Amino acid sequence: MIELKNINKKFGSKEVIQDLNLTIPDGEILAIVGPSGGGKTTLLRTLAGLETVDSGTFLVNGTAFNPTETTEHEQVVGVVFQDFQLFPHLSVFDNITLAPKMVLKQTKEEYTAKVQELAQTLGISELLASYPFQLSGGQKQRVAIARALAMNPSVLAYDEPTSALDPELRQQVQGLILSLKNEGVTQIVVTHDLTFAKAIADQLLEVAPK
Ligand SMILES: Nc1ncnc2c1ncn2[C@@H]1O[C@H](COP(=O)(O)OP(=O)(O)O)[C@@H](O)[C@H]1O
Ligand SMILES: [Mg+2]
Repeated sequence: MIELKNINKKFGSKEVIQDLNLTIPDGEILAIVGPSGGGKTTLLRTLAGLETVDSGTFLVNGTAFNPTETTEHEQVVGVVFQDFQLFPHLSVFDNITLAPKMVLKQTKEEYTAKVQELAQTLGISELLASYPFQLSGGQKQRVAIARALAMNPSVLAYDEPTSALDPELRQQVQGLILSLKNEGVTQIVVTHDLTFAKAIADQLLEVAPK
């Protein structure tokens, strides 16, 4: 279970996240919906440890954690960003295994076994030797998901997972998120698409315009 308590974040005098509280039970999906500028991406950046909060507490299974500190075992929240942020000069295999190698200090046997398992789950086994420029948007997204999951996160979060894709791929992303739920992955899905959010979410959080 992941909990956020009284999270506040300002940029200058602008309050972007205001006293945010949420709880996500293991294996559930929380959808966060709201207008552009509502602070959704900022929230994901703080969960990924790329941005600090001004006040508030993050808890995983009842224990406080600091998202800016990655332990040697895992990153608590893995984030799939809107533009996927794959490393263009690295193969799919190297994109997925870089952080497990460098941060988690996994052995070659460990990260190779993990990448093969994730590639199988996500249907990208044939793409491990490819480079990002050779992939479709949907394939890049699957690689970004595999890369996030390779860090053994307690929660996987997505920023606007349908926005960079052709409309007909929306159904596929929905299927993918629900299949990860079946595997027990706890997920946060940020979107401005209320229909999509309602189709996948156990819990819906609407953020107000700022
Ligand atoms: N690094 C930053 N410095 C200053 N303002 C920022 C920064 N990042 C985001 N903002 C502002 O915070 C607000 C929320 O942005 P964002 O989190 O991207 O919203 P959303 O993803 O919901 O569209 C916007 O007004 C944006 O301009
Ligand atoms: Mg955003």
